[in-house]
Amino acid sequence: MSVDSAIKPNLDRIQKPDPTCIVIFGASGDLTHRKLVPALHSLCCAELLPDDFIIIGVARSDLSNESFRERMREGVDKFARLTGERCGDWDTFAPRLYYHRLDYHEPEDYQALADYLDSKEAEYGLPHNLLFYLSTPPILYKTIIQQLGAVGLSRPKGEFTRIVVEKPFGTDLASAHDLNLCVHSAFDEDQIYRIDHYLGKETVQNIMVFRFANLIFEPVWNRRYIDHVQISVLETVDVGRRGGYFDHAGVLRDMFQNHLMQLVALTAMEPPTAWDATLLRDEKVKVLRALRPPENGALRTNTVRAQYRSLDGKGATYRKENGVGPQSETPTYAALELYIDNWRWQGVPFYLRSGKSLKKKMTEVVIQFKEVPHMLFNMGIEANVIPNQLSFCLQPDEGFQLAFQTKQPGAGMRTDSVDMSFNFATQFGEKALPEAYERLLLDALLGDASLFARADEIENSWRIIDAIQQGWDRGDGPPLGFYKPGSWGPAAADVMLNANGHRWCASCAD
Ligand code: BG6
Repeated sequence: MSVDSAIKPNLDRIQKPDPTCIVIFGASGDLTHRKLVPALHSLCCAELLPDDFIIIGVARSDLSNESFRERMREGVDKFARLTGERCGDWDTFAPRLYYHRLDYHEPEDYQALADYLDSKEAEYGLPHNLLFYLSTPPILYKTIIQQLGAVGLSRPKGEFTRIVVEKPFGTDLASAHDLNLCVHSAFDEDQIYRIDHYLGKETVQNIMVFRFANLIFEPVWNRRYIDHVQISVLETVDVGRRGGYFDHAGVLRDMFQNHLMQLVALTAMEPPTAWDATLLRDEKVKVLRALRPPENGALRTNTVRAQYRSLDGKGATYRKENGVGPQSETPTYAALELYIDNWRWQGVPFYLRSGKSLKKKMTEVVIQFKEVPHMLFNMGIEANVIPNQLSFCLQPDEGFQLAFQTKQPGAGMRTDSVDMSFNFATQFGEKALPEAYERLLLDALLGDASLFARADEIENSWRIIDAIQQGWDRGDGPPLGFYKPGSWGPAAADVMLNANGHRWCASCAD
């Protein structure tokens, strides 16, 4: 596949969305500038946007269309996958960007928005298809949803009206349930697209293709052959300017409830019978329902929580970050040992870890297979047999590798562990992988909710996180540990695995 065909994919095989008006609430915020408009622009470059579209940014600030466009242009230049010489489409794209001021708490402003949309749709001859995107602070979600319902904007006037809801979707099970009730009071479930940007990552989708488009792995994908599974989402960044938000959320809510739970579900689910949003999400929900949070004594042995802290002043200390209390107990790192109570996975540990300010940015899923039942080779002290290991490198070096044994050349029958690897960039070109938001925005425009979370999926994953968080809040968890910024995390996370004779891998960082 050439680089150009990766950028402008074969449109015979990819449906183009119907003409649509896209309305982004929170248009003056960071996400719109860094992710949403750059992604829409790249879709435009790739000729994947509808033939007719307009994008209306909505927020409280007083901005003209021109100043909004200028700000968005900076975002595109800085953050878009396809920019400048690869795509000269700014001049076709920019005139379709508009800004509309709205006070989120003012009911009359929503009627004014409805009138504005009518006039813009008439001007462009658009058929009343609407995609709303909530990218405001989450505290405003309920107000916006209720007001959209009140002025009738949630009911389709054309082929469709859909709403995309950014994460976080609630802060615990009760608030997520409450938000689901609110959104269902104005929109039907099939109009709602709850975003988890990890599902938009090509390599995350590839877990499903790898498992279900190949014959050879599925027969061994179970407790008989798999010893344990590791899922690591490690980040080098610290909380930076997000201290105020993070100190309330903590790593469990920020990373585990959404991204890590999705990775567990995709790795562990049964094959759906078709590529269909309902069937796929049914299978994920079954995994989440079967996932058992550690209880009682296991909260101490099977969970780890820690904060980054620099003792020599050479790195950042979480408690000194802006917006963070000097006595904060909020973990910036957690590791969990979880079990799935079903026939496929009974007794197989799923080790999960995620943290900020670590040594490497690395997201990987490692399937550690069991040892062969009887080893013929490497008898004696030189034994060097490492069981098979399959690593999905989700980012930054996207690809996968399979470690297996081979014969060392020469006399005797000594074996060595070697890798069979595949790398996306080498195979398909550096720019071939679309940004997660490109894929998700396109799917929302097309009406494919397969890569979005359903109400029951969100609530079931909050059930697990709540059980752990509440246990920690009661004081039943392990003591809060500390780790050096730039390290691999706290020693307690190693101890947790060592207790089962295991150790963390970082296959994708090697
Ligand atoms: C977000 C979290 O959902 O994901 C951030 O709120 C985190 O704290 C980010 O840094 C990580 O995303 P990615 O795509 O860089 O792995």
